[in-house]
Amino acid sequence: MTDSFSAVQVTDRVYWVGATDWAVRNFHGYATTRGTTYNAYLIVADKIILIDTVKAPFRDEMFARIASVVHPGRIDYIISNHSEMDHSGCLPETIAAVKPDAVFASAMGVKALADHFRLGPGLVAVKNGEQMNLGGVNLSFHETRMLHWPDSMFTWMPNDRLLFSQDAFGMHLASGERFDDELPADLLEREAAKYYANILMPFSPLVAALLGKLPSLGISPRIIAPDHGPIWRGNVAGIVERYAAWARRTPRRKAVIIYDTMWGSTHRMARLIGEGVVAGGAEVKILPLGANHRSDAATELLDAGALLVGSPTLNNDIFPTVADALCYLKGLKPKGLVGAAFGSYGWSGESVKILNGLLKEMQVGLVGDGVSVRYVPDDGALAECAALGRRVAETLPAGEGKA
Ligand code: FEO
Repeated sequence: MTDSFSAVQVTDRVYWVGATDWAVRNFHGYATTRGTTYNAYLIVADKIILIDTVKAPFRDEMFARIASVVHPGRIDYIISNHSEMDHSGCLPETIAAVKPDAVFASAMGVKALADHFRLGPGLVAVKNGEQMNLGGVNLSFHETRMLHWPDSMFTWMPNDRLLFSQDAFGMHLASGERFDDELPADLLEREAAKYYANILMPFSPLVAALLGKLPSLGISPRIIAPDHGPIWRGNVAGIVERYAAWARRTPRRKAVIIYDTMWGSTHRMARLIGEGVVAGGAEVKILPLGANHRSDAATELLDAGALLVGSPTLNNDIFPTVADALCYLKGLKPKGLVGAAFGSYGWSGESVKILNGLLKEMQVGLVGDGVSVRYVPDDGALAECAALGRRVAETLPAGEGKA
């Protein structure tokens, strides 16, 4: 019964016509525990403009929402701000159904769409900063390369002061509410931080540069319409400020401890290291990887100054869960961390050495050689763990967190 889906009005001529995915739990490695939305927008003026589309299985929902405003066949133009398939998956079907006069994308977007879908004719590359009047609507296009794909761009609607920001300022949050001022602020903060940590953290210098450039581009949004999660209209300044802070990376005096355990020894070590961190005057988050997802570790690292990693030795190597988490975290390029490794072993004992190597690859400043324990930690080893936690905490510079 797709025909009962309705558009949600954003301004007098802009509508949300996206789709809500209550079921998705994995977004290329990121645990989307609250689902997501794929936001598409319709501008209804002298011409009808569709901005982005939705993931392929949600085509009918998008079309039903469009049809609640205008017949989809009346769409004149499509703007593709981002070619990743959660926003372009049903673009080929949409083009076939509505036969738009043009599909606009950045130069890189045109290439990406051609590569994805073998689309060619009808794709129009817009220049960075190009301004256009489409059916009485002033729009400008601004490349946001590598935020978070090479093709990504913003579409700015100056008269409505509305920024279509594609993935930026988004979050993976399925909800019946469409606007930030309809949702709890702490939920928005948590999910926006998780999104930033897992999608945008590697590109923080580019985020900072882009935010610094917005005033000179005349972009001062009253509404930010991202491609995931709620539309910002209540606290636009707040989410822009949070992005600026995350991009600056000003860590708290906080240590994140991730580990897995075989028979409980590495677990006991992690707990004592955590005690040491607290004794050293810093905040600690302990995430056993059997109970926490790698993307939650990434979120905790967003404002942390230290990363400690524990693994038993298993078959001359580290635990697969720990290898998984470190592979993922390394790709997110968290900057300026200090840290250490720890773990138990039975006979060969490679894990701490391997972890030290991986932490160095992540440019984590090692505080000592780590703690490695044969089989089960005794009182002396546990005291060594507590001392390591304290030493790491004392290494953390004064920041925004605990003194
Ligand atoms: Fe929401 Fe980069 O796609």
